[in-house]
Amino acid sequence: MKEASESYGFIFEIDFLWADPVLKKLNVRSGERVLEIGCNKGMLLRKLQKRNVDAIGIDVNKKAVQKKVVDEVYEMNAENLKFKNESFDKIYSVHTIEHIPNLKKAFKEMDRVLKPGGRIVLIYPAEPIRGLFVVLRALFVYGNPLKARKIHLHKLNPKKIKGYIKGTKLKYIESGFPIPLTPQYLTVLEKE
Ligand SMILES: C[S@@+](CC[C@H](N)C(=O)[O-])C[C@H]1O[C@@H](n2cnc3c(N)ncnc32)[C@H](O)[C@@H]1O
Repeated sequence: MKEASESYGFIFEIDFLWADPVLKKLNVRSGERVLEIGCNKGMLLRKLQKRNVDAIGIDVNKKAVQKKVVDEVYEMNAENLKFKNESFDKIYSVHTIEHIPNLKKAFKEMDRVLKPGGRIVLIYPAEPIRGLFVVLRALFVYGNPLKARKIHLHKLNPKKIKGYIKGTKLKYIESGFPIPLTPQYLTVLEKE
C-alpha cells in the first residue's frame, strides 16, 4: 500500500499562487537562509531563488527529489531534519503539514533548526472534514475515494497549531486566509 507521501507523483503546478503570500509574510532580508519543508521537486523554491532568496528545500518523497528542478532539494523527513540547531532564519511550508504523521515531532524539529527570532510561515487546507479536499486524489492514487484520510492525516486550524507548538520556543503570531475565496489558512509563528 502506498504511503501518503508517495501520493504526489503528480502535483498541480499552481505554486505561483503561493509565492507572493509566502514572501510577504516571510519578510526575508539580505543574507538570511530559508528552508522549505515538503518542497516536492522544488517548483516554489525555484521561484523564491529567482527572487534572490537563499533557500533550500527538503521532501520525504524520493521520486519527487529525483525530479528536482533546482539543486538545493534534499530527500529528508520533516520529523528528522539533518541540519544543525539554529541553521535557518526562516522556514516555510505549503500544503505539507497535514501529511506529516508525527506533526508534534516535525514542529520540534522546525523549532530546533530555526534561529532565535526566526519566523515560520505555514499554508495548509481549511477542511471542514479531514480528507475532503483530496477525495479525487484518493481515487487516482488508491482507486478508492474513501482513502482520502490516508493522504490528509490531520484536519488543522490555527487553534490546533497552537497545541502542536506547546513545549517549544515557537510562539503563535497570526493566521489568515492568504488567497481570498480559497479554503486555506496561512499561519505565522516566531521563535523567541
Ligand atoms: C501536497 S504536496 C505539496 C508540495 C509543495 N509544497 C506544493 O505546494 O506544491 C505535499 C508534500 O509534502 C511532502 N511530505 C509529506 N510528508 C513529509 C514529511 N514527513 N517530510 C517531508 N516532506 C513530506 C510530500 O512528499 C509532498 O511533496
